[in-house]
Amino acid sequence: MGEQKKEAVGTPGGRRIADIILECRNLWKIYGKIVAVKDVSLEVKEGDIKLIFGPSGSGKSTLARCLAMLTTPTKGDVFLMGECLTKPGVDLNKARAKIGFVFQHIWLFHHLSALGNIELGLRRVLKLPKNEAREQAIQALKEVKMEEWANHFPAQLSGGQQQRVGIARALAMSPEIIILDEPTSALDPELTGEVIDTLRDLAKKGTTMLVISHEMPFAREVADEMIFLDEGMIVERGQPELFFTKPSSERARRFMARLIKLTRRE
Ligand SMILES: Nc1ncnc2c1ncn2[C@@H]1O[C@H](COP(=O)(O)OP(=O)(O)O)[C@@H](O)[C@H]1O
Ligand SMILES: [Mg+2]
Repeated sequence: MGEQKKEAVGTPGGRRIADIILECRNLWKIYGKIVAVKDVSLEVKEGDIKLIFGPSGSGKSTLARCLAMLTTPTKGDVFLMGECLTKPGVDLNKARAKIGFVFQHIWLFHHLSALGNIELGLRRVLKLPKNEAREQAIQALKEVKMEEWANHFPAQLSGGQQQRVGIARALAMSPEIIILDEPTSALDPELTGEVIDTLRDLAKKGTTMLVISHEMPFAREVADEMIFLDEGMIVERGQPELFFTKPSSERARRFMARLIKLTRRE
């Protein structure tokens, strides 16, 4: 696997091998009596696509939010480009700007156009001058093939288009990594495809991503590693083929069987 990646260095659209972008070590998140994340360690290297999946309530969103430092872990450490974000005195706003986050429930400001939604962060967080913000926002819309919709308001866009604007908003900040928390699960099945196509395009460009998703064909095609979470713990992890052929844990086997059955029914 490592060798394969090395060969891809320098090839157009190919993946690069490089350093660890985002990492957590022995991460825990506890809410009162609920242990949402239990001793999770993982790392995402440059160009990697990690796919996290697991039953509802297994801690996927909590883990993603801890990795982006949108919530503070109870125990354990998070590192972004080698910098520990969980020690006191870190400029978290600066760190958060380097981690793009796409939410399950799309939220865009309704009084702003697609372009306006993207420009906002560029102006407020990155403090870019107006022209530069506009240029960068348009470029981001191009990446998700939404430039023609730049001046439309969220209400004039389909759910899939709104989610693509959400992805463009994350991309526009030139983050080191994009974390997507079930980006298609709030969409009708017919709108899921266009968002998955967008993610596939980003994958081809070598974008570093951590995706929470149950879109199994997509996972099989693009993920470098799949991580199965249950009850806050990593139960099993490995290359996609492992899960599609012979997961070693009973829990992963049962969950995969259920997912595959659901996909067939759709
Ligand atoms: N802010 C919170 N306060 C209390 N409990 C929470 C909070 N967020 C999540 N939980 C609990 O943590 C567990 C994991 O939730 P979550 O990370 O949302 O799982 P998933 O995304 O896999 O569905 C659940 O039991 C959930 O009820
Ligand atoms: Mg969730």
